[in-house]
Amino acid sequence: FIDREVQVLANLDWIALEHRVTACTACRLHQSRTQTVFGAGNQQADWLLIGEAPGADEDLQGEPFVGKAGQLLTQILTALQLPRTQVYIANVLKCRPPDNRNPAPDELACCTPFLDRQIALIQPKIIIALGAFAAQHLLNTNKPIGELRGKQHSYAKTGIPLIATYHPAYLLRSPSQKTKVWNDFQVACQIFA
Ligand code: URA
Repeated sequence: FIDREVQVLANLDWIALEHRVTACTACRLHQSRTQTVFGAGNQQADWLLIGEAPGADEDLQGEPFVGKAGQLLTQILTALQLPRTQVYIANVLKCRPPDNRNPAPDELACCTPFLDRQIALIQPKIIIALGAFAAQHLLNTNKPIGELRGKQHSYAKTGIPLIATYHPAYLLRSPSQKTKVWNDFQVACQIFA
């Protein structure tokens, strides 16, 4: 199924891809979602930010990072002079896992081809993985986020530079870590220097 899906997606433009995500019933999450959360922002962005999965607010509004954590992310981006309209924001999973539980391996397997097609269409210059989950998934590692953050990696399937940092929901609980996220974004900015 997945290999065939990857072949189908390779021919889709943005509109067809979004339609396919909206109609997706490949895993159990379609049964509990209110709606899919495809992603939002500039389709020609240099910066692609990738979170874990929609939460309750995102599931209701159909947009990524619009709840409390998302509002903090918007503030951080604004302070970096990277308004949301200039970047692209997506999640590894397009549907909310019930009670925000961690994504299951088969859900990831079904959903990753959508993200990969988004990456192929955008061709970002840098990917920012937000939080341990996205970072570990994209880097195919179990290392803790504290070890992964702030260093330049690359998304193996594409070679695109990737920086991992803390999830904004974590910053809501631990505001003192904000300076580390700021530093991680500064490392990311150096890619453009
Ligand atoms: N957390 C995420 O990882 N993604 C969202 O879109 C919202 C919260």
